Amino acid sequence: MEFSIKSGSPEKQRSNCVVVGVFEHRRLTLSAELIDNAAGGMISDILRRGDMNGKAGSTLLLHNVPGTLGERVLLVGLGKEKDFREKEYCAALRLAVKTVGETGAQDATLFLTEIAVRKRDAAWRIRQAVVCSLAAGYRFDHYRSKDDEPRRLRRLTLIVERRSELAAAEEALRQGLAIGEGCQWARDLGNQPPNVCNPAYLAEQAQALAEELGLGCEILDRPAMAALGMNALLAVARGATAEPRLIVLHHKGAKASDKPVVLVGKGVTFDSGGISLKPGADMDEMKYDMGGAAAVLGTIKAVARMALPLNLTVIVPAAENMPDGNATRPGDIVSTMSGQTVEILNTDAEGRLLLCDALTYAERFNPDTVIDVATLTGACVVALGHVASGLFANKDGLARDLQEAGEETGDRAWHLPLWDDYQELLKSPFADMANIGGRWGGAISAACFLSRFAKKYDWAHLDIAGTAWTSGKDKGATGRPVPLLTQYLLQRAGTPD
Ligand code: BES
Ligand code: MN
Ligand code: ZN
Repeated sequence: MEFSIKSGSPEKQRSNCVVVGVFEHRRLTLSAELIDNAAGGMISDILRRGDMNGKAGSTLLLHNVPGTLGERVLLVGLGKEKDFREKEYCAALRLAVKTVGETGAQDATLFLTEIAVRKRDAAWRIRQAVVCSLAAGYRFDHYRSKDDEPRRLRRLTLIVERRSELAAAEEALRQGLAIGEGCQWARDLGNQPPNVCNPAYLAEQAQALAEELGLGCEILDRPAMAALGMNALLAVARGATAEPRLIVLHHKGAKASDKPVVLVGKGVTFDSGGISLKPGADMDEMKYDMGGAAAVLGTIKAVARMALPLNLTVIVPAAENMPDGNATRPGDIVSTMSGQTVEILNTDAEGRLLLCDALTYAERFNPDTVIDVATLTGACVVALGHVASGLFANKDGLARDLQEAGEETGDRAWHLPLWDDYQELLKSPFADMANIGGRWGGAISAACFLSRFAKKYDWAHLDIAGTAWTSGKDKGATGRPVPLLTQYLLQRAGTPD
């Protein structure tokens, strides 16, 4: 999809489809009013007759509206004006793009970007519009032999009210494209089937990205990891024929002495549970267990494209978790790269085993902040559902910054406690700790486990088990939390938003 920015009047747009908003109770937006005036009161007539009520989720497509130069006008319901916030704005945009996409229109001009959203400026509206439009237009059809619904909508023009806003809007458009395409890539990686997307595939994709954008890249294979003592990570990969990888990417946007932010993403390309085998129902969804890896890769792609002035390192420990005669057994004890030992009581609690060695590995980059991102626990889905990611940190300020970045982008996270009381859950009679903490508070005991490997820097953990993908008929990767992470990094880089 191509985007451009413009300022102008809706009746004068020679567009396949001009999109304007209407609020409930017949409240027209500025652009709807301009169309109404040009068309001799046609829009107000329609609203009075009740053919369109302005409720959120409603649309009405009009053809050849008199007095206007466009082929179609799409009215999009915005709900009550007093309730119109960030979420309603993004929902209206997604609905608009989806609805126009079902017509024959090849291009559309969106006047929704003119509508005021409380506390947000034009740049925010443009950036979100691009991210939401790309998300709404996303499809993963690489494996369909026939294309039943060829894509028509190719160009979107986003309108800003004042010419003085154009420069800031162009910058916001560039950011929106970088973020939106970062999300798309994360979704593509997640949606790939697990027979294609294995650790070696993730490594190839990372290498290709590094070449495209001039990033530093190192890939460690099994012997290299064994030499470093990453026995927890390797314990996960033991049962699989697919070889594990440790993928490292560097974006150097600031001077070498600036400590980097390090993002660590769980890259389990398929989680069968291992010897602690998962039940069969919905096991296919465990191909998304590399959602953390996809998100941190999508984020560094966006950051590099925006050329943010900061140093960012991404680490992806990638492995497949399979049962086998050679697989790790419940009861096995491994010594991690940090020297701490772990009794593996459940081979399905594998994410923390990969991550703990990656967190220790992160120390060598002398990081300012480390954030790991992982589809880590079903317990987090029980706690927060599919709305918010679980957020843990060993520093409150970092948790606050991440939570705010989530609010700003509609990619929310919720801060959960890491109190010492919970550390007790990980006691093992034989090793320094067990890899599970029992039935209750499972998202927290998993975070507690990780915290023991993240003592040397400011650290946060995002449990995205409930947010990285959706199930059901619209099954697929969401690209979360790329928006949260990029927003956090934009803020850190001090770029005006
Ligand atoms: N990848 C899963 C977590 C998961 C479960 C994500 C369901 C999304 C939906 C993780 O590796 C796992 O299996 N966790 C176990 C931990 C338990 C054995 C302590 C879980 O949550 O059941
Ligand atoms: Mn598991
Ligand atoms: Zn897992």
